Amino acid sequence: MKLSSRMSRLGTETAFEVLARARALEAQGRHIVHLEIGEPDFDTPANIVRAGQDALAKGFTHYGPSAGLPALREAIAADFTRRRGAAVKPEQVVVFPGGKPVMFFMFLALLEEGDEAIYPNPGFPIYESMIRYVGATAVPLPLRPENGFRVDVDELLALVTPRTKLLVINSPQNPTGSMLTADDLKAIGRFAAERGLWILSDEIYSRITYGEPHHTMLRFGDPERIVVLDGFSKTYAMTGWRLGYGIMPAEFAPVMARLQTNATSCTASMTQMAGVEALTGPQDSVDRMVAEFRKRRDVIVAGLNALPGVTCVEPQGAFYVFPEIRGTGLSSKDLENRLLAEAGVACLSGTAFGREGDGFLRFSYANSIENIREALARFGGFLQKGAARSRSSASAS
Ligand SMILES: Cc1ncc(COP(=O)(O)O)c(C=O)c1O
Repeated sequence: MKLSSRMSRLGTETAFEVLARARALEAQGRHIVHLEIGEPDFDTPANIVRAGQDALAKGFTHYGPSAGLPALREAIAADFTRRRGAAVKPEQVVVFPGGKPVMFFMFLALLEEGDEAIYPNPGFPIYESMIRYVGATAVPLPLRPENGFRVDVDELLALVTPRTKLLVINSPQNPTGSMLTADDLKAIGRFAAERGLWILSDEIYSRITYGEPHHTMLRFGDPERIVVLDGFSKTYAMTGWRLGYGIMPAEFAPVMARLQTNATSCTASMTQMAGVEALTGPQDSVDRMVAEFRKRRDVIVAGLNALPGVTCVEPQGAFYVFPEIRGTGLSSKDLENRLLAEAGVACLSGTAFGREGDGFLRFSYANSIENIREALARFGGFLQKGAARSRSSASAS
């Protein structure tokens, strides 16, 4: 098969590959604790499911406008304006089947060969994949545990060249759970506006925070150069429904809608009606889910920090932890493989999130406290066996 040369630049999300390996082990009768996949383990709230069913019954089974159903664009604009303190009009909203198309279409619309785009590393792997796929140069911005995995604004400034066209930020962040402060966003927004840079602000975890409030980039930068990515996958446990959106300059919205016309025509109509209910209906299920995630975060952070050779920064949002594991003497990839094969714990090597993730693992704590405790016990047992092995080989030599 002769594929286009651009296919050689397309990356992927390793989480799906680890999940497949874990499932294969389960098929052989092994018990696996799943901490690899980034999706809430909760069901979509019943009122939202009912709204989807009603929409099917009422005939929302046809094509809709490429930019999204007016009712949903209005609901998103109203919700965004109320929650985030940045006034948004429905014509600035475009609805997509998930958050991912927002990044892909934005990069397709704005980047060309020779352009540089700066993205967080470790970070969601699709940024780098898509930037490279569209022919631009992906410039990693390292995030480090020393400053809680926040963007170092001076380091960011040093990466900007005359070719820099776009900057990706993500807060709360996948895979580290870090959040940018209002001061960080102010500094980033100011210098991006001065240099005319576009910003993709991935805010898909905006509602999953544990203390400090989330701030939208839209309040701090040039609104004519910002696209905010958000959606329903994480907040409302709707990953399989495929529903996300972008908030963007009104002039840019028809561009993104045209890409959608070419790629998918529109987002499923019944899914969009479920989205209207998600935003306008009761929000207590979101609050309950976040309260539960917080308890799990506390258990997993304390448990990891108690393991020899493991140090874990406390995340401020999302549902991931990104512990440093260099002290175990194993590489990230070896540890990912061996924890799965020998301890039955599925997690991801930090390198799945870019080269700066070397020396780290990512655990998703979208699993019960009981299973998290079991995974920690298995991880601890694995490290103890390793320590015993190295003690006995040292005494033998
Ligand atoms: C940072 C980040 N952005 C975007 C997405 C994509 O979300 P969706 O499933 O709505 O396409 C994810 C999903 O894991 C994510 O972690």
